[in-house]
Amino acid sequence: MSAIKGFHHLTAGVAGAQEDVDFYVKLLGQSLIKKTVLLDGDEPIYHLYYGNARGDAGTLVTSFPFRQRGVKARPGSGQIRVINYSVPKNSLDFWRARFEAFGVTYDKQTVTRFGETRQRFLHPCGIEFDLVASDQDSRTACVAADIPEQFAIRGVHSITLSLREVAESVIFMKDALEFRYAGEQGPYHRFETASGAPGTVVEFQHEPDRLQGSSIYGEGTIHHVAFAVDNVEQQMALKDKLMSMGHIDTSESVNRNYFRSMYFKMPGGVMFEAATTDIGFTIDEAADELGAEFQTPSWLSERKEELLSRLEPISI
Ligand SMILES: [Fe+2]
Repeated sequence: MSAIKGFHHLTAGVAGAQEDVDFYVKLLGQSLIKKTVLLDGDEPIYHLYYGNARGDAGTLVTSFPFRQRGVKARPGSGQIRVINYSVPKNSLDFWRARFEAFGVTYDKQTVTRFGETRQRFLHPCGIEFDLVASDQDSRTACVAADIPEQFAIRGVHSITLSLREVAESVIFMKDALEFRYAGEQGPYHRFETASGAPGTVVEFQHEPDRLQGSSIYGEGTIHHVAFAVDNVEQQMALKDKLMSMGHIDTSESVNRNYFRSMYFKMPGGVMFEAATTDIGFTIDEAADELGAEFQTPSWLSERKEELLSRLEPISI
């Protein structure tokens, strides 16, 4: 059985920080559970974490607002194309009315795939999202004052990868990551792990003519997906397995403060990560105060005020 239980987080490069907060928190009812920093280069960029109020793995989507640095990424194949959120059945009318009221770009027609109805909408930076209606999701609802539980998002349902070729990547999902192949519909291939419920699903979209996208951090693309593993032992066992199968493009175990990360490239070019669930977001904030204050890892603590002063103020 696969060590992978489902998703840990997804990470995207977005445009402005405040419009990103407005999208996840005000529109979608997600909680901003950590406000910290990416320090890649001289100029700090926020690293914003959104999810359910507890910051559970599998609900997390994180953003780097790259407009500040003026770096644009190029959407294309070899990337995660769509973030799919899970919502209850019979909630899509509520969300369409909400998108209309908030001025969000959304498709006027739904699509049904693998027995699930989906509603497409766009992040302000252009990244594609689907709400997927499912009655198989028992996770805690992300409620807000104006989002009743019966309609609220439960977490990440799945990701949709855009791939020019799928044959090697199908084998990778089955043999290296030990996902089950759950079927094919037109250009789509579906894989599941664990129970196969929302939060354990990966989908390929075969797009042989789509030009390759960039893999840099920049505005407008989803950079990578992290799958959840229990600890470094499982993470390193996965690394050893990948290496032994010839998938040698793997990283060491990297300290990300709230978890440890091991990055690896899948054959279709998409950056994957195995993130551990054994540390968590309460190492620097109480469970009921997640996201309240700007946080830096210990090795940047002396620069906290300086870094914050170089980031645009954001409010919830
Ligand atoms: Fe990550």
